[in-house]
Amino acid sequence: MFYGKGISDLLPQLHDKYGPIIRIAPNELHFAEPEAYHNIYNANIRWNKDPFIYHSFGADDASFGYLTMEEAKPRKAILASIFSRKQVIDFLPCIHEQIDHFCSILGRNDQQGQSSNLLFGPRALTLTIITILMFGQDMWQALESPDFNLSILRSLNDSLPAFTILKWFPWVGHVLESLPVWVNNWLWPSHAGLRRFQSEVMEQVVAIRSGATKLENSRYPVIFRDLMAAQIPFTSLYSEAQTLLTGGIENTSNTVMWGIWHLCHDKQLMAQVQAELQAIWPDPQVYPPLSVLEELPLFMAVVKEALRLAPGIPHPLTRVVPAQGVMIKGQFIPGGTVVGSSTLMVNRSAALFDEPDDFRPLRWLKPNAKELNSHLVAFGKGPRACMGINLAMAEVHLILGAILRRFDIELVTPGKEDLVWRECFIPYFSQEPARALFRPRAGVVAM
Ligand code: HEM
Repeated sequence: MFYGKGISDLLPQLHDKYGPIIRIAPNELHFAEPEAYHNIYNANIRWNKDPFIYHSFGADDASFGYLTMEEAKPRKAILASIFSRKQVIDFLPCIHEQIDHFCSILGRNDQQGQSSNLLFGPRALTLTIITILMFGQDMWQALESPDFNLSILRSLNDSLPAFTILKWFPWVGHVLESLPVWVNNWLWPSHAGLRRFQSEVMEQVVAIRSGATKLENSRYPVIFRDLMAAQIPFTSLYSEAQTLLTGGIENTSNTVMWGIWHLCHDKQLMAQVQAELQAIWPDPQVYPPLSVLEELPLFMAVVKEALRLAPGIPHPLTRVVPAQGVMIKGQFIPGGTVVGSSTLMVNRSAALFDEPDDFRPLRWLKPNAKELNSHLVAFGKGPRACMGINLAMAEVHLILGAILRRFDIELVTPGKEDLVWRECFIPYFSQEPARALFRPRAGVVAM
């Protein structure tokens, strides 16, 4: 796994060779069949998260890192309110404003004859949105960064390969952290990226905690206002900031990128989606209600297909079987065993989806689509599934919708290699980012 491959490259090969249940570590089983996935992750399951993975991020005392439901419950209660559908709807004017700003930069780039960065552009936008929701203000001005290449985004991306090694050898991280950053950078740049990301986050949390950054002024919900009111200890505030930033930036923006990239390879479908959007969105500057966008059949199918194909979190999200043991896909698994199944086993299952690696939104409009819905597991399933789903879905619909409504898009790097990624818990893109020209469509005024 250290030679340029991630676990999700190897799992399909190992399952082909050894069958649907394989032992991938001394005490860890991985399951390939969708039914097994649904046995492990569903609303009735309260199994603990596996410390080996979940305590390798340095954010043990945060929503994502808490191992048991009991520990996670109070934090989830605070976040659940802010990530509720109602609060996300209240927050929409802010999302609209940031999308408008983003689109104005895409248009400006085009006016200057320049393409835009499809990897870091949407990331800069989702970073801005989650930052405003967390801290009540745009801390990093990511959208203003040349080519959206902001240091915190670059550091976050560069840090991903560190996960593969730190998972197995956490002591390596502790040793490196005791060294000056420049030595760390020289020895292992990826780990230095992680340190840079963490120190930028730490700086913001310190400023908030000391009162140097005021949280009171925002007219929108502010996550850290609620966390501070609940008197969360400093280390936990910092862990939560890391968690929400990493959770809130890349998965959502990758989904947008996946949708755009695939539509650019199917111009006919792109034109149909744009016509569908235009019919309910006559003035490109005035957003339709989110619920109207969510009900457009073809657009909804594109969103689902982008969610299905974008890798999301491809690493198996492992759980510990309770003491009495459990049945998974008809097989007894003893207590204490660590079990997991990557979302890719379901989202890319050939048994569920014809040509599972192809972008075919029309599959979501067929008579069996209702059944397929339960197999769209990008956000996970069960009590530890994604807490940010309402925000993420609003962002994907609005960002993708606004871009398609406002621009004709042409990839300037149309090769398949554009979306090559490697599993480093989430996908890591080591190649030059995909780029596209965003040409304003008729009726779109410069913003
Ligand atoms: C398309 C976008 C997204 C995808 C595909 C996605 C996917 C996931 C998945 C699969 C999990 C389950 C992890 C596990 O089992 O341990 C998860 C958890 C989580 N996500 Fe997301 N996510 C997305 C967007 C977001 C956003 C925008 C936020 C907001 C900050 C967010 C916050 C969280 C949190 C806090 C958890 C931890 C929940 C828990 O452990 O109880 N996610 N996400």
